Amino acid sequence: MTTASSLQLPSPYVLVELECVDSTNAEAKRLAEQGAPDLTLVWAKRQTAGRGRRGREWVSVEGNLYFSIILRMPYAMRVMTQLSFVAANAVADAVQVVCPSGTFVNVKWPNDVLVEGAKISGILMEAQPAFEADQFEWLVLGIGVNVATHPVVEDGGFPATSLAAQGVLGEGLDVALLLDTLAKRFLAGVATWRNLGFGPIRRHWLARARGVGGPVTVRLPNETLEGIFGALDEDGALVLHRDGHPNRLITAGDVFIPSIPREL
Ligand code: BTN
Repeated sequence: MTTASSLQLPSPYVLVELECVDSTNAEAKRLAEQGAPDLTLVWAKRQTAGRGRRGREWVSVEGNLYFSIILRMPYAMRVMTQLSFVAANAVADAVQVVCPSGTFVNVKWPNDVLVEGAKISGILMEAQPAFEADQFEWLVLGIGVNVATHPVVEDGGFPATSLAAQGVLGEGLDVALLLDTLAKRFLAGVATWRNLGFGPIRRHWLARARGVGGPVTVRLPNETLEGIFGALDEDGALVLHRDGHPNRLITAGDVFIPSIPREL
């Protein structure tokens, strides 16, 4: 169901505002297949089948932010990862703006945003490869931010938080206002990325990153690796150092950081 818009996003965004949908990523993919333009943004108040990375569920009750952006650009598939860093930077910036000064807002590889060490946001990217080329036809970048509530995480799971749990009240808790700030930051990040490349995006991300240079556990679909998060490579891959092994480039997976000092 479509609702009257309570939000004016700057051009060239095309806003599709929904009360409820299965998943904004699924809806954005349907629209992309029908030819929806670059920077179509699908925003829903709730999702009935919100999805996270690696097939996980993303609990999507009313009160949090759920949206997906369609990007149409004739770029190589490998730059997909770079765009997820543009998005993570935009989320971290927007969250920092509404949190009390001094709040620790960090990013964790590949594109999670943490507040005081707990996950507040996740990003799910899905792409349609172009026929006969190592390029994508379109890319859907889905972002969820816990505003009013966050899921209760089972023992051993990565802790979650929300803006409300961090004591953010009043205007800062306005989902539309948060989306407005975030969408503008994302647009600025995409412009930087298009004009200057990944370098400034990578540096911005690294300034807020947790876990770089320290021990990490990387969980891949078929194996779990222990090592040192040695560096972030020029495309955003995690360079994993392991004693007695050549360096390994990790382009997708879950990262666990055993002890994270709370400093930037
Ligand atoms: C993660 O597992 O960390 C990624 C979570 C991504 C959730 C967002 S909410 C908006 C968009 N629609 C979805 O179904 N998923 C993404």
